[in-house]
Amino acid sequence: MPMTVPQLGCQKDDLDTPALCVDLDVMEANLRAMVSACRAQGVGWRPHTKCHKSPTIAHQVIEAGALGITCAKLGEAEVMAAGGIQDILIANLIVGPQKVARLVELRRTADPVVCIDHIDQARPISEAMAAAGLTLRVILEVDIGLQRVGVLPGAPTLELARQVAPLPGIELAGIMGYEGHLLCIEDQEAKADAISAALTVLTDTARLLVENGIPCPIVSCGGTGSFKFAITHPGISDVQAGGGMFMDAFYRHRCQVTEWGHALTVLATVVGRPAASRAIIDAGKKTMDGSTHTPLVLGRDDIHIESLSAEHGTLRLDPSAQSLKIGDRLEIIPGYSDLTCVMHENFLGFRGGRLEVIWPLEGRGRIQ
Ligand SMILES: Cc1ncc(COP(=O)(O)O)c(C=O)c1O
Repeated sequence: MPMTVPQLGCQKDDLDTPALCVDLDVMEANLRAMVSACRAQGVGWRPHTKCHKSPTIAHQVIEAGALGITCAKLGEAEVMAAGGIQDILIANLIVGPQKVARLVELRRTADPVVCIDHIDQARPISEAMAAAGLTLRVILEVDIGLQRVGVLPGAPTLELARQVAPLPGIELAGIMGYEGHLLCIEDQEAKADAISAALTVLTDTARLLVENGIPCPIVSCGGTGSFKFAITHPGISDVQAGGGMFMDAFYRHRCQVTEWGHALTVLATVVGRPAASRAIIDAGKKTMDGSTHTPLVLGRDDIHIESLSAEHGTLRLDPSAQSLKIGDRLEIIPGYSDLTCVMHENFLGFRGGRLEVIWPLEGRGRIQ
């Protein structure tokens, strides 16, 4: 049986549930705020697309003022290029002959930038690009404390840059680092200090490269949870924060991002009322993320998500919410937007209470 396809112009009450909804006015306001904050600091914006995986939304962020986009996977970058996006930072390491061959094809239609943190990733890419008569921009990913990937800052990065820069088929275009380990520091002064220290490691490394005759136009970092600190750090060329356009409970309550509105919600239906203080909705772990932060019920401080199982959400109701009945609808702010969107086929974009757009997540499942 096909899922019910919503008609443009319909209202939320007309939707079947669960459904992934975007408040277009809020999302566009978030985009404008992110662009103007970057512009005010003279910093570029290459927002991460892992939260939406949609070329249509990517075009919107570029129209709003982004200089390009960031992807997590080669497969996502292919989808973005097929959708007409040119400047695509793949913030990841590309390894293996299958991927290198695809990267060559991607370079024919777009202008990607790829991360390198070891010469063994660079050589096969260089050989393949040179053989195809192409040049690919690469940046060195530097470990600024996250301890995920990345060459060590300072002298080891300079040494790698000296190995990579002369390779044919490659243009060394700069460096990046991600301060993802510092997003949840509660005390805002301590958070500012820790991010500043990590980004100083990055910008000092960029300076070291330049002092040694290696140009470093891209010095990229920054996520939604560190955006306001990253954009003000001297020497940063662009930031990758993306999920802030949707916002979620994790950004708001763990990262203390308060500037932007909640644009992304899951519309759910109350399907059970087993006890006065307990209700069951048709949205569980396979509909929205609750692992990163407990989801929140939009506009209802008196309804709490108690737990999620695969396909059920259990709500705890304060006395003021106990009139909730079977068939009522609730809008839920997911724990983490990124891990929520990938479970859905479409975004349903509403404005003024009417369904204005249906955006498929074309990059969903493109994990290779
Ligand atoms: C490399 C990189 N850049 C930026 C981000 C931040 O993305 P967002 O702003 O969507 O949270 C992440 C998050 O995982 C990341 O891995």
